Amino acid sequence: MNTYSRITGTGSFLPPRRLSNADLASKLAAKGVETSHEWIVERTGIEARHFADPGVCSSDLALEACRNALQAAGLEPTDIDLIIVATSTPDMVFPSTACILQNKLGANGCPAFDVQAVCSGFIYALTVADAMIKTGAAKRALVVGAEVFSRILDFTDRTTCVLFGDGAGAVVLEASDTPGILASDLHADGKHVGILCVPGHVSGGQVLGNPLLKMDGQAVFKLAVGLLDAAARATLNKAGVDATDIDWLIPHQANLRIMQSTAKKLKLPMDKVIITVDQHGNTSAASIPLALDVGVRSGRVKPGELILLEGVGGGFTWGAVLLKM
Ligand code: ACO
Repeated sequence: MNTYSRITGTGSFLPPRRLSNADLASKLAAKGVETSHEWIVERTGIEARHFADPGVCSSDLALEACRNALQAAGLEPTDIDLIIVATSTPDMVFPSTACILQNKLGANGCPAFDVQAVCSGFIYALTVADAMIKTGAAKRALVVGAEVFSRILDFTDRTTCVLFGDGAGAVVLEASDTPGILASDLHADGKHVGILCVPGHVSGGQVLGNPLLKMDGQAVFKLAVGLLDAAARATLNKAGVDATDIDWLIPHQANLRIMQSTAKKLKLPMDKVIITVDQHGNTSAASIPLALDVGVRSGRVKPGELILLEGVGGGFTWGAVLLKM
C-alpha cells in the first residue's frame, strides 16, 4: 500500500495548425455558414483553437505531451507502470489509445487503458490512477487527456463547430509519502445523454447514425454551472478545505462564462483561475491537463500550492479533484 499519490511532472502538446476565429469564419463562409470573431468571443471567450493535420491521431498528440511530462518528472518511459488515457476521440474502436500510446512511448508491458467520460475524462482518469497508486497496484502512472475533436465536428453547425479544438495534456502521478491528491468527487447521470452526444456507431462494417457532435448548448450551460459548483464543494468538504484557501482553480475549459460563474459561486477572483480556452478552445478531456501544464510552465502554479481541478461533460459526467502540487 502506498500512502499518497502526487503529480511530479506535467506536459502538453498542441498541433501546430492554429486557426483564429477569423480563419475559422472564412473557412465556414466558404461552406455558406455564417459566424464572426465578435460572436464567438462574446459568447465563449474563444479567440483561437488548434486542429491536427489529417492522419494525426490522439495518440500522436498524447505521445508529445507524455514526453514533456516525463522529462519534467526526470523519468524514462520504462519507469512507468500504468497508463490511463482519457479520450472520446480514440485512434480506433479498439485497441485502446492507451495501448497505442504505450507502444509509441516504448513503455510496453504495463497496464494501459482508456477512460471515456468526455470532458470529465481527465478528472475520472486521475481519480482512478490515484486509487490504483493508493492500493499499491501502481507506483508511477502516466495520466493523459488527448483529443482530436476536429474529427467529430459538424462544420455546417455553427452552434458547435466554433467551440472545440485538438490537443493533449499529461501528468506523471507517483506514489509519495507526502500528500498530493487530497480528495476527489465523481458523478454521472445518464438521463442527459441526449443533450451532448455523438450518436453514431460502427455496425456491420458501416457507421450507423450521425458520427458528429450534437449539443443543446443552453441546456449544457445551465446544467454545467450547478454541477461544477456541487462537485467543487463536495471535494473541498471531503478534504476539510475552504474555497478561499485554494491557490488555483483549473476548470474544464469549455466557455469563459461558465468559468466566471463557477469562480463567482466559490467567491474566487478570476486571477486565481487558469484560463486557456481563449487560445485552445474546448479540447474536452485534454483541457484540464493542458491548462495545468500552461499554469506550471508559465511559473504561476508552484510546488506546494493547492489546486482544484473540475470538469463536466457528456454523459452527463462531472467531478473535481483537490491536490497539492
Ligand atoms: N456565430 C454566430 N451566431 C451564432 C453562432 C455562431 N457560431 N452560434 C449560434 N449563433 C446564433 C444562434 O443561431 C442564435 O441566433 P437567433 O437568436 O437568431 O436564433 C443566437 O446566436 C443565440 O444563440 P444561443 O444558442 O442562444 O447562444 P448562447 O448565448 O446560448 O451561446 C453557446 C451558445 C456558446 C453554445 C452556449 O450555450 C454554451 O457555451 N453552452 C455550453 C456549451 C459547452 O460548454 N459545451 C461543452 C460541454 S463539455 C463536453 O462534454 C463536450
